[in-house]
Amino acid sequence: MSKKITLIPGDGIGPEVTEATKRIIDATNVQIEWDIVEAGTIALEKYDTPLPDEVIESIKKNKVALKGPITTPVGVGFRSVNVYLRQVLNLYANVRPIKSYKGVKSLFEDIDFIIVRENTEGLYAGIEHNVSDVAAESIKIITKKASERIAKFAFELAGREGKKKVTAVHKANILKLSDGLFLKCAKDVAKNYEDIEFEDVIVDAMSMKLVQNPKDYDVIVAPNLYGDILSDMSAGLIGGLGIAPGANIGDDIAVFESVHGSAPDIAGKNIANPTSTILSGIMMLKSIDEYEAANKIEKAMSEIFLQKDKLTKDLGGKLGTKEFTDEIIKILK
Ligand code: NAI
Repeated sequence: MSKKITLIPGDGIGPEVTEATKRIIDATNVQIEWDIVEAGTIALEKYDTPLPDEVIESIKKNKVALKGPITTPVGVGFRSVNVYLRQVLNLYANVRPIKSYKGVKSLFEDIDFIIVRENTEGLYAGIEHNVSDVAAESIKIITKKASERIAKFAFELAGREGKKKVTAVHKANILKLSDGLFLKCAKDVAKNYEDIEFEDVIVDAMSMKLVQNPKDYDVIVAPNLYGDILSDMSAGLIGGLGIAPGANIGDDIAVFESVHGSAPDIAGKNIANPTSTILSGIMMLKSIDEYEAANKIEKAMSEIFLQKDKLTKDLGGKLGTKEFTDEIIKILK
């Protein structure tokens, strides 16, 4: 029986990278029926809202979605659709595997850790106001419920993935109440997982340590803002945003998406690297127990990375998005 998956092409390069991923997944002959819905700028033009109800309903019904990046206007305009989706669907865990591949130029070899970022609160709670014409306030929310939930998620993930250590990242030396609560919750949860080592590191020190010794880490759990920054920085360790996948996961709904944004500077030019979305697609297939298809694509990606002439320009190759996708499909067939 085919499984229905919501597909949101998104903005900018989104339609190109999601189409590439859809073609690759379909080429494995896995039984998937795509429920394609529009969000972002395209939806705003057509339906006068960047996030039509139909999108939320489709994800709630299908439980799993593959999503292209969506543009967020800076300073003005509509609120981030990405942040709103995570909040309204309670996708409390943002999961970003940071894994290096042979053939992809990266600062280190054999990197393999996962960043788990709290996705619903912290400084991204979206509670902001102007105090006067010359001052504005943003409220950072940290709760026991969300902090314990994300810490538990990180330990469970570590257990499933055979990882030995969970590292909690915080700034509790300065933000004693908010980050102090996050850290206390992580420490309390850690007591239930005696087989998994636990440590905590202050976020500024963590930034340096990750750049110097990324192999020291297995699973990193962090509040929203720190997790966001460390995730992109870590993507830089393994070859950039173009190859880092991600997922936003709740108790029974998961939305898989690339780490990069809509890249308006290269949209529609057939030069975007679809790897990040393809790797997110692999995570999506595993989440619905389609391991055979997932492993096949993973193997094809490992093979293609070793053939420099068959890569996209950002990875030092010459191929366009479509031609790169064709080459992966050739390996799959
Ligand atoms: P970006 O990730 O879109 O682009 C940063 C740079 O990386 C650009 O030079 C771009 O050309 C390049 N790049 C990104 N993805 C690439 C790919 N697959 N292949 C080759 N090159 C690639 O970040 P930026 O410019 O900060 O954001 C653009 C828009 O995307 C903004 O409106 C932002 O809010 C939105 N965004 C959406 C996200 C989402 O939907 N999850 C995540 C991050 C940003």
